[in-house]
Amino acid sequence: MRVLVTGASGHIGSAVVPELLAAGHEVTGLARSEDSAAALTAAGAEVHRGDLDDLEGLKHAATAADGVIHLAFKHEAMRSGDFLGAIAADMSAIEAIGAALEGSGKPFVSTSGTLMLTFAGITDRAGTELDVVEGGPRVDAENAVVGLAEHGVRSSIVRLPPLVHSTLDHHGFGPTLISIARQKGVSGYVGEGANRWPAVHTVDAARVYRLALEGATPGTRLHAVADEGVPFRQIAGTIANKLGVPSASVAPDDATEHFSFLGAFVSLDNLASSKLTREWLGWEPTHPGLIADLDDGHYFEQ
Ligand SMILES: NC(=O)c1ccc[n+]([C@@H]2O[C@H](COP(=O)([O-])OP(=O)(O)OC[C@H]3O[C@@H](n4cnc5c(N)ncnc54)[C@H](OP(=O)(O)O)[C@@H]3O)[C@@H](O)[C@H]2O)c1
Repeated sequence: MRVLVTGASGHIGSAVVPELLAAGHEVTGLARSEDSAAALTAAGAEVHRGDLDDLEGLKHAATAADGVIHLAFKHEAMRSGDFLGAIAADMSAIEAIGAALEGSGKPFVSTSGTLMLTFAGITDRAGTELDVVEGGPRVDAENAVVGLAEHGVRSSIVRLPPLVHSTLDHHGFGPTLISIARQKGVSGYVGEGANRWPAVHTVDAARVYRLALEGATPGTRLHAVADEGVPFRQIAGTIANKLGVPSASVAPDDATEHFSFLGAFVSLDNLASSKLTREWLGWEPTHPGLIADLDDGHYFEQ
């Protein structure tokens, strides 16, 4: 298949591209800069030069492809405070790709996150692929993609856990937590730190995207989750050991001061199951889990 990948030069894209090429697909990656274009060419992909906001260009590239994987997200805008702008751009891009693929039966795999399940109040059990949230930031985009299944698109959603980890991860939540612990001289957790975060190795997540592209049932939500929930205190303790700093509890009221923008997430209990994804796609994670990957040490090389 010739696959258009947006965000192909990013953390997860840089594992998805080789995963697709190794399986015999051809890849066209969206690149907004010379550097990203060069990285994609070096990886063996074709390049479609353009920005996420160039909706006509996106439509054209999606029409020319046999399937689309959407990973691009305006993280820079989000980090500088324009979260709603990033959300709106994501939705516009999804609508443009959806319009290009309508009625074609082609696959469209897009991205969401497991944290939305906790924000939606699913806290008494592990969230599953069958849990549907009515609306909200990023949730609307997820639901729009799933809705394309009613319009002749073999659409599916991959929900990623907050920690997607590997040597390819340079600015995700893991490196951010490590950087905060380094700066503060303490690796924190909120309260007892009993809340859990799911995780997946980037290469295992990339395989979910490929399997979804190749065979997901239209309108399905998938969980690229390997560790269903690692207690935050264990994550903080492992970071503390590797940095040689203490691990300590942070009062809930001090979470934003200590963790900055991550303060909104660090106390969330986000247990997430991938039982159905494993059944539906025949997917099993084979790469190291979160604690083993942190223990490996690559995150702590300066
Ligand atoms: N990483 C995680 O732990 C995690 C967890 C949950 C959900 N997610 C979601 O997974 C998706 C991929 O995440 P990631 O970690 O791979 O992100 P990333 O490393 O920040 O990569 C973002 C990608 O989007 C591209 N991009 C950003 N703005 C663009 C624009 N205006 N026009 C065109 N391309 C643009 C970037 O291109 P450049 O190379 O040119 O910058 C890059 O290829 C995102 O939707 C993210 O929110 C990630």
